[in-house]
Amino acid sequence: MGSAPSGSDPGARGRLRLPVVAGPALAVPADFAPPAPRTDGPTLDAQHRPLRYLRVSVTDRCNFACTYCVPDDGIAHQARADLLSFEEIERVVAVFAALGVERVRLTGGEPTVRAHVVDLVARLAPRVRELVMTTNGHRLPELAGPLVAAGLRGVNVSLDTLDAERFARLTSGGDLATVIAGIDAARAAGLEVKLNAVALAGENDDELAALCRFAWERGVTLRFIEHMPLSSGALYQATRELSAATIRAALTAAFGPLVPADRDRRAVGPSRYWALAADPRREVGIISAMTEHFCDDCNRVRLTADGALHACLGHDDAISLRDLLRQGGSDDDVRRAIAYALAGKRPGHEFQRTGAGAPGKHMIAIGG
Ligand code: 5AD
Ligand code: SF4
Repeated sequence: MGSAPSGSDPGARGRLRLPVVAGPALAVPADFAPPAPRTDGPTLDAQHRPLRYLRVSVTDRCNFACTYCVPDDGIAHQARADLLSFEEIERVVAVFAALGVERVRLTGGEPTVRAHVVDLVARLAPRVRELVMTTNGHRLPELAGPLVAAGLRGVNVSLDTLDAERFARLTSGGDLATVIAGIDAARAAGLEVKLNAVALAGENDDELAALCRFAWERGVTLRFIEHMPLSSGALYQATRELSAATIRAALTAAFGPLVPADRDRRAVGPSRYWALAADPRREVGIISAMTEHFCDDCNRVRLTADGALHACLGHDDAISLRDLLRQGGSDDDVRRAIAYALAGKRPGHEFQRTGAGAPGKHMIAIGG
């Protein structure tokens, strides 16, 4: 946990070899006594924050390789046999649902590159109130309809730029027109669509207003995301930081003053929403883990495709639910392991704006 950026020159992409991140280190100690299950509400973590939301990565592979997400040398991918099967994912999700989790988000890597992901959606949708997905959108033109039919409620699509050449460079070969067609297919299929744009100085800071207009024209919600240091800080450059305050200033310069948006959606996710004073229907979200962090309201935990439960994005602590399941563990054992992870959930990340304090894990393997 918390390793500094290993002295790496952030401009040194291409020469950087990242450490392979070790697997989950923790096991539930035999003498761990979980708190009695709550009957009057969701399970609480060590900071008394309610657990409402589980993010499930279904693969650590992606058909893109965004420069801010994937190390140049790639990562050591999880072996096929190490991935949770759909049965295993369903079982774990059912246990979480019984503990009070209402919302599950499928992530990756890119979740749509996992074979038969539509079947997984059909299995999980009846088990939770809301099943959604974060995707790069490239496969949505053909998958939006089947995903809706299987019970998916919404998609968050990553869209960092509206310039096709820039998009291809940032994503290492992604096709902007296909992704826009995917966004429109998702809207047409009835999915709730949100757009995620990682805001980076020198990359897309000249497009903030254009991205807003693109979202508003389509009636979808856009959120700007501050870049966070994962991968031991190797992909993080302080000079590319675009803070929430800077984003708001740029939007104010383009559209006039912003006011806090009416709807309080903090219970659902970390984004703070702003509206144009001149036209309150025009909203935009900012997810500012770095400069205005929201750890105090954190309601989520994360499961990697190989079954490691991470209580916090910013720390490498994890416990393998897969090993537990494959050793014949009962649902009670899984509950105990979840309780243990929650008991150890940190008050917050330790990301520094220099890139220090980053966990070793890679964004592509934890899924945001
Ligand atoms: N910091 C912030 N957001 C990131 N994403 C990928 N890497 C990072 C990072 N280091 C975004 C993706 C996607 C979402 C899951 O997280 O663009 O929209
Ligand atoms: Fe793939 Fe998303 Fe990472 Fe880009 S940000 S490489 S689309 S997982």
